[in-house]
Amino acid sequence: MIPSIEWVNNKVKMIDQTILPRELKFLEFDNYRDVATSIKVMNIRGAPAIGVAAAMGMALATIEYKELPKEPFLKKMEEAAEVIRKTRPTASNLFWAVDRIWKIISKYPDNPSNISELVIEEAKLMAQEDINVNKNIGKNGAALLDDGDVVLTHCNAGSLATVQYGTALAPVRAAIEGGKKISVIADETRPRLQGARLTAYELQYDKIPVKVISDTSSGLIMRLGKINKVIVGTDRVTSDAVFNKIGTYLVALAAKDNNIPFYVAAPTSTLSLQETVDDVTIEQRDSKEVSCVLNEVQIVPDGVDCLNYAFDITPFRLVTGVITEDGVFSHDELLKKYK
Ligand code: MRU
Repeated sequence: MIPSIEWVNNKVKMIDQTILPRELKFLEFDNYRDVATSIKVMNIRGAPAIGVAAAMGMALATIEYKELPKEPFLKKMEEAAEVIRKTRPTASNLFWAVDRIWKIISKYPDNPSNISELVIEEAKLMAQEDINVNKNIGKNGAALLDDGDVVLTHCNAGSLATVQYGTALAPVRAAIEGGKKISVIADETRPRLQGARLTAYELQYDKIPVKVISDTSSGLIMRLGKINKVIVGTDRVTSDAVFNKIGTYLVALAAKDNNIPFYVAAPTSTLSLQETVDDVTIEQRDSKEVSCVLNEVQIVPDGVDCLNYAFDITPFRLVTGVITEDGVFSHDELLKKYK
């Protein structure tokens, strides 16, 4: 797949993921407010891609304000950081990215013009690092896959959810690059259909065999022996659980009941092991996303409200292992290495 987000000529260029698979269209933004909106409305989505978008949004803000004296510059940058932080509450990477950019800003408080160059370089570096991290997740995860495996995944934690290559789909890509025959079954992932629209799109684009199932099918598919492993991505890993797209918990329960390994692919930028589940805000989105399929076909009677939690919580007892850029870890090992 082509990169989902890039820094091009002092603009942020991204794939508009809301209209895939119908159209592959690019958006370009030259100010942080538009980047913040693009995160909110999910032109760009997926925890690592959101992180890089946040960093690039901060970089655009430095360009906008670099002629200001130090104090007003810092004030404007704080405002920009706040707008970006408020876009989506669950993915760790968003906060991780703004904090990382803020470290650069606070190190060089006397020359905003110089800071702008440094922040742009840092944002570009974060994009490149994302690809490297994903490739290592791929290498570590590929070792878990056997020739002929069928991997179930939920939502989209692929190239589109990152800068490139993906997290949960990285082991699939790496195993195939290493000569194994691997195919994917993608849950459609109501209500935004990231599995049906995005995972299917990017795998087909890269000629990796993929089938889509309705979310309600995964339990039966496991029972019928049609998949060998589950790999999902994550938006935040706390000391006691994994937060990922709504529906992940049910997949993990079904996997446990069917003795199928359930792996979580997590770059270390997604780890938030000083927190527990009680510290995390689960994003609730507009109920219309549930009542009206892709904002086009209303399927719920007028006047009936819907609940639309965007993420759920999978406790570690259901997780076989966490694949990071450093290796594959059990719950205990993960805490020991990173907490
Ligand atoms: O609401 P989304 O589409 O941003 O949710 C994405 C997911 O839940 C992904 O699994 C997660 O961000 C990991 S992406 C590598």
